[in-house]
Amino acid sequence: MDKLLARGSGSLSAAARSRPRTAVVSMMAGVAVIAATVAVATSASAGTTLGASAAEKGRYFGTAVAANKLSDATYVGILNREFNMVTPENEMKWDATEPSQGQFSYTSADRIVSHAQANGMRVRGHALAWHSQQPGWAQNLSGTALRQAMVNHITQVATHYKGKIYAWDVVNEAFADSGGGRRDSNLQRTGNDWIEVAFRTARAADPAAKLCYNDYNTDNWTWEKTQAVYNMVKDFKARGVPIDCVGLQSHFNSGSPYPSNYRTTLQNFAALGVDVQITELDIEGSGSTQATTYGNVVRDCLAVSRCTGITVWGIRDTDSWRASGTPLLFDGNGNKKPAYTAVLDALNAGGTTPPP
Ligand code: G3I
Repeated sequence: MDKLLARGSGSLSAAARSRPRTAVVSMMAGVAVIAATVAVATSASAGTTLGASAAEKGRYFGTAVAANKLSDATYVGILNREFNMVTPENEMKWDATEPSQGQFSYTSADRIVSHAQANGMRVRGHALAWHSQQPGWAQNLSGTALRQAMVNHITQVATHYKGKIYAWDVVNEAFADSGGGRRDSNLQRTGNDWIEVAFRTARAADPAAKLCYNDYNTDNWTWEKTQAVYNMVKDFKARGVPIDCVGLQSHFNSGSPYPSNYRTTLQNFAALGVDVQITELDIEGSGSTQATTYGNVVRDCLAVSRCTGITVWGIRDTDSWRASGTPLLFDGNGNKKPAYTAVLDALNAGGTTPPP
């Protein structure tokens, strides 16, 4: 809108220099009417892409990106047009960034970060410490050696990307699916404090990045796993462990459906004094059913002031880790699905709560 107004007044002053005063006055009035009309029309029609529409609501709209797809013109065209946040889908994970102990490999992840920076997108880093996708050498470590390797990994990777990451998934998927406790893993067996050590290490390496705990099946407020993560975040906040955000992956399908209390979950995490981000959204299904659920998720995020952004886990259905479930916003040819329209409409609808 500012650009349109600025362009209008710029052409007026150029024209006005060669016209009599009365003509200038009446022309200015005319331009003012046009400018006001443009302003009203612009704010009423809102954004025409996911990123622009989310930005109008003070939020971001992101996607997971795979480095090896950055040579696919259709993929990159949609990426650059629609999204203003990217998450490397696999390229920042431990097996990718430290394939041999102490030897770091950033080529693929750097490619994504460079693409994001060149196109005005921010980056969510994913993930510094996780039981899965560890390199073989780490899988074979335990105890103090593994703890030290984790600390060194976090320090090295977060330092490499210092200043370039909006938010890090510092720890990913550390809770068990049932029972309300931690997931058993080699990292967990180094001691229960491994998660807070990871967060303190990340903070020391990149103080400006938001530090998130990220997990799945934490969407339904009544589930044990949701409660367990909530209690950890509450405890971290009480004890001053540096945590800034909670990521809800939100991979929805018939076995793990979108819950009607999703907004309550977002609100309750936010009330602990952390941002909430929807980090890996995909919803299996098709047509209006899928579209309605996508719209509901967006409306829930917009209703919670500290829900700062949404990332979908891929661009086209064929890019998805669950491709057969057609869970994304674009079909395999890159066409917008009804789910896309539902998301855009929800982003553009009024009455939302802006982030603080
Ligand atoms: O790159 C190799 C390729 O060279 C090889 O031919 C092929 C054969 O299987 O494998 C390819 O690697 C695969 C990689 O994705 C890239 O496509 C791995 O096998 C496969 O395991 C890996 O899956 C990733 C998965 O994490 C691993 O846990 C998915 O792409 C990725 O979307 C998924 O993302 C996770 C988040 O990190 C955490 N939350 C859940 C989410 C979905 O599982």
